[in-house]
Amino acid sequence: MERAVAVGAGGILERTPSKGEQLMLFAKNFVKHPKMLGSVIPSSRFLIDKLLAPVDWANARLFVEYGPGIGNISAEVLRRMHPDAKLVLFELNDDFTEFLKTAFRDPRLIVLHRSAADVGRVLAEAGLGKADYIISGIPFSTMPEGVRNDIADATHAALAPGGQFLVYQFSPKVLEVLEPRFARIDRDFEAINVPPAQLYFAHR
Ligand SMILES: C[S@@+](CC[C@H](N)C(=O)[O-])C[C@H]1O[C@@H](n2cnc3c(N)ncnc32)[C@H](O)[C@@H]1O
Repeated sequence: MERAVAVGAGGILERTPSKGEQLMLFAKNFVKHPKMLGSVIPSSRFLIDKLLAPVDWANARLFVEYGPGIGNISAEVLRRMHPDAKLVLFELNDDFTEFLKTAFRDPRLIVLHRSAADVGRVLAEAGLGKADYIISGIPFSTMPEGVRNDIADATHAALAPGGQFLVYQFSPKVLEVLEPRFARIDRDFEAINVPPAQLYFAHR
């Protein structure tokens, strides 16, 4: 079973869509929106483990994720995070947003059909405060420069001091917006993913 749905024991899922159903949904949307997805299949569990490696699970209380797709990273964050923590998902794709609302049942999860660029407004309006971690797989390399800069500005402002922006990408283009804003950026690489991915851990 794919890790994305291997959380049933924690009571997180309302139902368990088959791995085939999930992959079909992802692949169908890749055909419709190739630039928005960037990959024909979801992230591997190897990439997810590396991306989440820096997280201080005992103390983090607010997680944000941009572009969760079918929620395979989200499921792992829910499985590991503190019972009092929250996870807020920003997803632009209609099919994925509906899927996420149906597939997950966890009071700590908020699924939004909103752009990552709205993160500051959303967190402020909901009174959630600043995020400890913002996780992102949205394709910075294919979005317009203005959007890329808006999301980077909003992300930096939405993070708590000491918070981190955990990013995986298939191109290093994102560094153009990370380097001017974040004082320290750690890097990693995961080969067992389609395609192999660069990881950036940007410290606020
Ligand atoms: C590569 S897919 C990521 C899928 C998933 N995170 C995974 O690990 O398999 C990129 C996702 O980002 C979403 N996306 C693109 N631009 C976005 C934006 N500005 N705000 C929120 N989501 C966005 C797309 O709809 C798509 O679901």
